[in-house]
This record gives sequence, C-alpha cells and structure tokens, in this order.
Amino acid sequence: MQDILAMTYLWLKAGHIIFMVFWMAGLFMLPRQMIYCHEAAAGSEEEATWAKRMGLLRKIILTPSLIVVWVLGLALAMSIGAFDQGWFHAKLLFVLLLTGFHGFMVAKSKAMSRGDRPLSEKQLRLYGEVPGILLAVIVVLVIVKPF
Ligand code: HEM
Repeated sequence: MQDILAMTYLWLKAGHIIFMVFWMAGLFMLPRQMIYCHEAAAGSEEEATWAKRMGLLRKIILTPSLIVVWVLGLALAMSIGAFDQGWFHAKLLFVLLLTGFHGFMVAKSKAMSRGDRPLSEKQLRLYGEVPGILLAVIVVLVIVKPF
C-alpha cells in the first residue's frame, strides 16, 4: 500500500511538472503573439492570422495546461498534507497571481482579436516578463521551502 501511494505521488509530480512546462510555454508565447498582432492593422488579414494563432494557443495549450496543473497540484498537496505548511501558502499566493495574469492576458488577447488595442506595445513587452519572474519565485518556494 505504501509503495502504491509513493508511486502515485511520483506520477502526479511528473504530470504536474510536464503540464507546468506547457502552461509556462503558453504564457511566454501569448504576449509575444500579442505584440505581433499589435503591429497588424485593425481588420487586416494579418490581424486575423494572429487572432487565429492566439485562439489556438488558448484552446490547445493555455486552458488545458492551467486546469491540469491545478488539479495535479492540489492532488499533490493532499497527498503530502501541504495545506498547513508555510511554503505552500506562499506558493498558492504566487500561483494565484500567475492564474490572474493568465486570465488578464487571455481577456486582452480576445479584445485584440476583435480589433481593439487595449495595451501598448511597451506594456506588452513589460507584461512578457511577468511569467518568468513568477516562475522563479514559485520554483524557489517549492524546491527550497524556506518556511
Ligand atoms: C496551480 C496550483 C499549484 C499547486 C496547488 C501546486 C502544488 C504543488 C505541490 C503540493 C507539489 C509537491 C511538493 C513536494 O512534494 O514537496 C508541487 C511540486 C512542484 N511544483 Fe507545483 N503547484 C501548483 C502550480 C505550480 C506552478 C505554476 C509551478 C511552476 C511555475 C509549479 C512548480 C512545481 C515544481 C517544480 C514542483 C516539483 C518540486 C519537487 O521537486 O519536489 N507548481 N506543486
């Protein structure tokens, strides 16, 4: 029984990390695609092409990965009893920030696909740095477990 639980934990963790990489890859790509879309004239064929690419990225990579990372992450937390540990509370805070950032960028990319330009190119470049910074904090929290 102990062996089965240990194996389950390892498979959950492997899946969690694989889908975390997919999610992060999507979060790195979306601001970049939004910059290309920003450069296209509203209503142009080029804008439609980027709108299609952003839609596919959201549908095939971003949304499914977000769900799988959350489900496996919560299953891991249950399996190791992480809910009363300080590092996990801090990780949850930053993961919630990352999830909020995901939702914010998805909403803005949908607006761009409709021809709006809700963010400047400079803002998009700045926002493109956010997932890398949050990723670094989250990985330190989960590996070092400083508290
Ligand atoms: C979405 C909600 C998330 C929850 C509830 C969650 C929860 C967890 C839990 C409980 C573990 C097991 C820790 C251990 O065994 O010591 C874990 C492992 C891990 N998580 Fe998450 N996580 C989430 C999202 C993320 C994100 C967004 C990242 C990276 C950006 C990430 C990176 C990792 C890494 C690298 C590990 C492996 C650590 C090790 O080697 O032990 N997680 N996660």
